[in-house]
Amino acid sequence: MKLTYLGHSAVMIEEGQFKGIIDPFITGNPLAQISADDLSGITHIFVTHGHGDHIGDTVDIAKKTGALIIANHEISAYLDKFKLRTPAMHIGGRTKFDFGRVKMTNALHGSGISENGNMIYGGNPCGFVIEINGKKIYHAGDTGLTLDMKLLENENIDVAFLPIGGNFTMDLDDAVTAADFIKAKNVVPIHYNTFDLIKADPDEYKNKVKTSETVILNINESINI
Ligand code: NI
Ligand code: MN
Repeated sequence: MKLTYLGHSAVMIEEGQFKGIIDPFITGNPLAQISADDLSGITHIFVTHGHGDHIGDTVDIAKKTGALIIANHEISAYLDKFKLRTPAMHIGGRTKFDFGRVKMTNALHGSGISENGNMIYGGNPCGFVIEINGKKIYHAGDTGLTLDMKLLENENIDVAFLPIGGNFTMDLDDAVTAADFIKAKNVVPIHYNTFDLIKADPDEYKNKVKTSETVILNINESINI
């Protein structure tokens, strides 16, 4: 399985015919190394919450590729107007798909969808535990530190993607505690340095995490697990 960091919170997962992308914020990301048009063959899109830096290019990519969008009920209902394929899930649910299983976990954050100066209700934000061919990935979405992350230790996560940038999410030190709670084999810091408000040093994070192997991915860099 190949995992590629596309910047901010965007992660691509490739395994056989499956090509999933989580929080595809490419257009508007000042650090993006590709354009959304470069993405082809996407089969699934995971959306953790309604904020623009996470929904991102979801609608355009789904229109182009026909990708199935996995999101909470409120975001799925919002996306209905674009005539996209959006089966709804919600927090705590674990659902079997053709590629594997997905559990929607809670996140401490907001999920409003900004559209033409209005804020549309986007339900509760989430994270995802995505299980494919015996490998498990956790993507925390945007979240503050929560004790609930201790429950994720039971999932035996192979790779956890955790926000470290602070201000809107956990900062670096809280994300160290999160890594200690989750005890994934590997943690990958995300959601930092895209904007001035979320500056963080991934090397400092790596030095502080003692409970997992920290893998710092440059934008467009991949790991194979
Ligand atoms: Ni957010
Ligand atoms: Mn965000």
